[in-house]
Amino acid sequence: MTGEWHHPTSAILSSLNDSTASSDHQREREREGRVPTSQAMAASAARKRSSSKPSPQPQIFEETPKPSDPISSSNEKFSLPPPKLGLVSLISLLSFLPFFYLLFFHYDIDPELRKSILINAAMSFGGFVAAVRLIPVASRYVLKRNLFGYDINKKGTPQGAVKVPESLGIVIGIVYLVVAITFQYFNFTSDSNWLVEYNAALVSICFMILLGFIDDVLDVPWRIKLLLPSFAALPLLMAYAGHTTIIIPKPLIQYVGVSVLDLGWIYKLYMFLLAIFCTNSINIHAGLNGLEVGQTVVIASAIMIHNVMQIGASTDPEHSQAHAFSIYLVQPLLATSLALLSYNWYPSSVFVGDTYTYFAGMAMAVVGILGHFSETLMLFFLPQVLNFLYSCPQLLKIIPCPRHRLPKFDPQTGLLTGTKDGTLVNLFLRLFGRCSENALCIRLLIFQALSCLFCFWLRYVLAGWYK
Ligand code: UD1
Ligand code: MG
Repeated sequence: MTGEWHHPTSAILSSLNDSTASSDHQREREREGRVPTSQAMAASAARKRSSSKPSPQPQIFEETPKPSDPISSSNEKFSLPPPKLGLVSLISLLSFLPFFYLLFFHYDIDPELRKSILINAAMSFGGFVAAVRLIPVASRYVLKRNLFGYDINKKGTPQGAVKVPESLGIVIGIVYLVVAITFQYFNFTSDSNWLVEYNAALVSICFMILLGFIDDVLDVPWRIKLLLPSFAALPLLMAYAGHTTIIIPKPLIQYVGVSVLDLGWIYKLYMFLLAIFCTNSINIHAGLNGLEVGQTVVIASAIMIHNVMQIGASTDPEHSQAHAFSIYLVQPLLATSLALLSYNWYPSSVFVGDTYTYFAGMAMAVVGILGHFSETLMLFFLPQVLNFLYSCPQLLKIIPCPRHRLPKFDPQTGLLTGTKDGTLVNLFLRLFGRCSENALCIRLLIFQALSCLFCFWLRYVLAGWYK
């Protein structure tokens, strides 16, 4: 998270114990331009206890803000700009139309399964409506608790001094869980083994939301941040009773000697690493308005289409069931993410926080694991894989890694210029030239969609020959 939010307890502790660390932190934020020079900053200074200047007296947090406190008084009349529902409807159409076409017209799918998917779709739509309504309410509350960020790619313009509510992923996570948990009532499969795994997946997702929110609130150091998903993946790993075998690709069978290989605990290790990768890779491919949610929407749409294609082409009920469960978990993710996108698209009126990036990454990882299509998932994640590999020198501290690895914004022209930091965002700017934040986000999302199309093409071309 931004580091701009300070919990009362942490504020007192930091002012009493950690003035050196906090002044380092403050200097870092100043270097990153995270501390605006505007009046708003001066007005909220009383709440920012980890100030670089040591105060003569230990400071006590005032639980009830004074009526003159500009944050609380501005909160009273605070209202978010309306959601961008037109844009989101268009994106929804692009995401759901191919899925429903395949489900109802292209493939001959079991009517019971269709019914379950349709009920899940209706509940997901309910989740979308609830999220659209709840985000403005939650925004007021998070702002009241000083949980906000400054839009770095607008620094130097009036928009760059606005406090943007942070961590709205918490709303999406909660609505998602309510939809996914209550959906079990309508799941008509009699195989209770599936329900154990389904619920373990939900516990993992829920644990991830909790840890993501903790990260947003406490601004956890980067190394610990990387480890958070490993705790959240535990419930799924412990409950997983599915097979631990992999099908060896046909061209490799002569070298391996078998067509099906049981990996045992190595398979579980693989699941574990997949969960850590998916969560962190979404979180570090970020920093542009709409990018965190946009990439999730594109990947989730691709997962839905892949699942329905697998169900349509399958004759094995267990295989179909695995993909149906993936749909039940990913459809509400797509719907609630679209609600968040309506507020997070450029210019963002809310930020999603690590709560959302971790939640979305974990949800897609468990879907890939339970649906047994993790190789395909990795192809959908191609931009994230490239961004991760390109980031490695900085993540491993071989090259210095600043708090934010974002482009340089020119307030005069409104254009972004790529920096030397190893991210896809900067690489795109260096390769294709300077452009606006919105244009850059659209380019990156088109690249994400092309990666998904490439994956479908590859599967189509390799079908029969590879596996
Ligand atoms: C990761 C990236 C960091 C990137 C940040 C942006 C790594 C190692 N870390 O850090 O380089 O800068 O995500 O999310 O690659 N923000 C914007 N505009 C946006 C979204 C976010 O300005 O569209 C800023 C806001 O100040 C917001 C903050 O980024 O408060 C959130 O950053 P956070 O998610 O805490 O950063 P990390 O996940 O630690
Ligand atoms: Mg983040």
